[in-house]
Amino acid sequence: MTLEEKTKKLLKDAKTIAVVCNQWGDTGKGKLVDFFADWADIIARGTGGANAGHTIVANGEKHVVHLVPSGITYDPQGKINILGEGVAFDPITMKQELETLAQEGLSFNNLMISRNAKLVLPQHIALDRLENTADGQTKIGSTGRGIGPVYEDHVGRRGLVVNDMLNPRIFGEKLEANLQHNLSLLKSKDPKAVKKVLEQKALLNGKFYDPYDILDTKEMISVYLEFGQFFRKWISDTEDFLANSVGKKRILLEGAQGFLLSYEHGSHPFVTSSNCSIQGLVKGVGLSEKDVERVFGIAKAFYMTRVGEGPFPTEFGGAESSEWCKNHTRQNERERFPNPNINSSCELEQGVAARVIGEEYGATTGRPRRTGWLDLPLLRLAAKTNGSELILTKVDVLDSCERIKVCVDYKYEGPDYQLGNETLKSGRELRVAIMDPNVLPHCIPIYQEFPGWQSAIRNIREYSKLPQKLKEIIRFIELETSIVSVGPERDQTIIRD
Ligand code: GDP
Ligand code: IMO
Ligand code: MG
Repeated sequence: MTLEEKTKKLLKDAKTIAVVCNQWGDTGKGKLVDFFADWADIIARGTGGANAGHTIVANGEKHVVHLVPSGITYDPQGKINILGEGVAFDPITMKQELETLAQEGLSFNNLMISRNAKLVLPQHIALDRLENTADGQTKIGSTGRGIGPVYEDHVGRRGLVVNDMLNPRIFGEKLEANLQHNLSLLKSKDPKAVKKVLEQKALLNGKFYDPYDILDTKEMISVYLEFGQFFRKWISDTEDFLANSVGKKRILLEGAQGFLLSYEHGSHPFVTSSNCSIQGLVKGVGLSEKDVERVFGIAKAFYMTRVGEGPFPTEFGGAESSEWCKNHTRQNERERFPNPNINSSCELEQGVAARVIGEEYGATTGRPRRTGWLDLPLLRLAAKTNGSELILTKVDVLDSCERIKVCVDYKYEGPDYQLGNETLKSGRELRVAIMDPNVLPHCIPIYQEFPGWQSAIRNIREYSKLPQKLKEIIRFIELETSIVSVGPERDQTIIRD
């Protein structure tokens, strides 16, 4: 059977499917959405914004998309790519992204942008970046794309939406009301830091900076109304369009970020500001969970990654590694470890090796991603919301690993902690992670060790031909693994018979 036939068999009569991440992002959503886009008529994103970095490798060519949906390489075939109302839409990044992708030979004839998508403005990017450089609790290592502030404004009833850029009077009025709130926040910051941030490229190199009022409102109005005219042909009621397409067209919903980063489900405060689960995704495109027939939750296996701050129980090298990732770049970590060994007894080195083999450097920020072993208590938690159907990616990265450790349970080793009507005591074992900032940092992983398969799997295309030792670990995970990804290319994908 060809891969296309196997995909059809896997999806049976399903008309609407979704791909979401069950970990901390960067699990290969871009690859899998591009893979399923061949099957789909419509591809729609509903959450996050330019904080995402989704990599597509199609016929040897690599594209990284931040805002544009990952089905975009199918635009010439008439497939529709949608940005739903839940998306944080930054016209500056979007325009730059379209220019870059156009230079790479991509087209955008069938792009649709929801008129209700949340509009990211300079004040959001500036505030996000200024918070990000602060010390202490507020510094969570955000991507600096304005995501937190734009969603705050939306729920705070002072946000603007994409459609406002098409109506000059309304844009001006809403901007003024929004700035009443945000300017006072900006004025509370160090003026030098504010100026520096506003002079960055993401804010058009100081175009909006005003030495007296901080932001030049006239300039902002003129630039954003111009953006409105530029994007106008793509802006429409995508919620209505999708609702009318359910059951008639093949719809593929593309998740962004990851379940464990979700503000609804993740480890506060080290989260993003959207609900990255299937619930947030369907809401963000204007559908309901009942419309989705198959939900595929992606997990890297048998290691995982995290970018930015926050607890990571199975991290290779623990706190030493998180500090290391903060202070190193792709280039300078190779000075200390020119040939890192994945089987090293030094956990920090093992983590560097996994990062180098898996190319784990942020697609959006270039930061080294923290690495650690697969964590089942966290995966079980994600599966409670996203469902039990799994796609395992990056399995080839551990090809040369002699021993593979999987975290099967946690042992809580913190002070007595009142959890509702029960007291969590030291020594208690937990099968499913508890996403409480007072619990997760005190959870010590209990590992089960497996012998590695120690052979190259990138050219394998049949599940039955995968090494026995590898299939035993997959069986051990218990959830239903439907697809195993063994490389970044479209065809390096194994559908289970
Ligand atoms: P996303 O944010 O979930 O779309 O993931 P990213 O694109 O940020 O990061 C995933 C990285 O892994 C990208 O560089 C992909 O090209 C790559 N990738 C995806 N699947 C596989 C795989 O099975 N094996 C390997 N080695 N790389 C993969
Ligand atoms: P994709 O879609 C990995 C992380 C940031 C930070 C936290 C909050 O490529 O998987 P934000 O800028 O969203 O306010 O940052 O969330 N983060 C991601 N980590 N992959 C992503 O997206 C991420 N998007 C946000 O590193 O810790
Ligand atoms: Mg990514």
